[in-house]
Amino acid sequence: MRNKSFYIQTFGCQMNERDSETLAGMLRDSGYYESPVRNQADVIVINTCSVRENADKRFFGTLGQLKAVKRERPDTVVAVCGCMMQQQHIIETLKAKYPWVDLIFGTHNIHEFPELLANVLNEREKIVAVWGRAENIIEGLPSMRKNPYKAFVNIMYGCDNFCTYCIVPFTRGRERSREPKAILHEVYRLVEDGVREITLLGQNVNSYQGMVSEEDSEIKKETSFAELICLLNKTEGLERIRFMTSHPKDLSEELIEAYVSCEKLCPHIHLPVQSGSTKILSMMNRKYTAEAYLKLVERLRSRVPDIAITTDIIVGFPGETEQDFDATLNLVKTVGFDSAFTFLYSARKGTPAEDFKDQVPESIKHDRFNRLVNILNITSAEKNKALVGTTEEVLAEGKSKTNAALFTGRTGGHKLVNFKADSDVSGHIVKVLITNSTTFSLTGRASEV
Ligand code: SAH
Ligand code: SF4
Ligand code: F3S
Repeated sequence: MRNKSFYIQTFGCQMNERDSETLAGMLRDSGYYESPVRNQADVIVINTCSVRENADKRFFGTLGQLKAVKRERPDTVVAVCGCMMQQQHIIETLKAKYPWVDLIFGTHNIHEFPELLANVLNEREKIVAVWGRAENIIEGLPSMRKNPYKAFVNIMYGCDNFCTYCIVPFTRGRERSREPKAILHEVYRLVEDGVREITLLGQNVNSYQGMVSEEDSEIKKETSFAELICLLNKTEGLERIRFMTSHPKDLSEELIEAYVSCEKLCPHIHLPVQSGSTKILSMMNRKYTAEAYLKLVERLRSRVPDIAITTDIIVGFPGETEQDFDATLNLVKTVGFDSAFTFLYSARKGTPAEDFKDQVPESIKHDRFNRLVNILNITSAEKNKALVGTTEEVLAEGKSKTNAALFTGRTGGHKLVNFKADSDVSGHIVKVLITNSTTFSLTGRASEV
């Protein structure tokens, strides 16, 4: 029998990207190889995101394309998983309108995938296997990583914050932290495998609470997020530590000090503000005020002067008036973010904000969005321009995809740099003299390895 191939299409955040690496690892271990072309693969997996309506729409669009693939090659297995599958109304829609889907599973049982797939193939029947809630964290699953030098490492799963607009607490369940030892072990193995930079993943890493189940003399019974960073900082061969995402409501003083004491922790923080209006923040259930956010930024900059600060902002949350939006513009101008992700508010089924009154009309949302992005772009361009003439440390990730004469990588502050180098510097931290800048990237040349 010839070897079979797979293709995984991933929507959504780093959590999903990381899950897809696990799914790929399991398929590889079952004897499958990765197909470069989706529509020729024997097993097609779509890992879905539900954070905004657009993500849902793109998924259904993709499924539409797969109908033709199934017609031509009926033996193809179409499997769908991820955040959308944790919602009953989506499962109902799939059952009613998309009969060419063979396997549906959720975010809490990805470890069951090989078994479920085998059942689909053996029985030639459709399977829906979604768990309503998470059981214990499963350790030791295989992984097929996309990047040789950088890796995502989950430190916790789920979210307990219930921001009123957000679907994630419903799709990812309650907060669970991995044991520090399991994380340290994974990072050790990654470094052995050539990884230089890790990004610790969690919806709110500040509420990480690592418990130790066995007696261990080196690790305390309870480990905070900052303590975890300090433990990881000792990993020989590891060069950089990053994390995503930290919630402003409980960013601790201890974490700010970790930037000072742990030299591997990169001078960058992604600190989603969502809005500059305290009234809107309260309606979002974010549990901080605009003033508290500004104080936090000040505090971070006083202890870590070169820290790059990036953020997420939602435009057009229900009840957002022109005045509230002005408050967001003002906050953005005051902080001067290095960069930001901006989103049009999207009502999600089952979230409290879906039923809030005074939903903002689409045209107003778009208008505000454009005004906000203009200001953010001006600041990003200024911040990048200020780096021209300086020398930055860049982790070289390989050749640039758009220009083979250049290498590409990121600075400690997470800025994208394309640069010239005389030899293949991939996988090394190189000093790069920045010679030019645009709104979204820097260019330069390596001065030494
Ligand atoms: N846990 C992270 C965010 C994960 S979702 C945190 O709280 O910081 C990533 C971003 O998507 C959020 O920060 C928010 O800006 C945006 N987002 C989430 N739900 C949204 C919705 N319903 N409409 C528009 N944007 C949304
Ligand atoms: Fe969603 Fe809020 Fe949790 Fe982030 S903290 S995942 S925005 S509920
Ligand atoms: Fe999307 Fe789920 Fe991530 S909804 S943003 S893939 S946690």
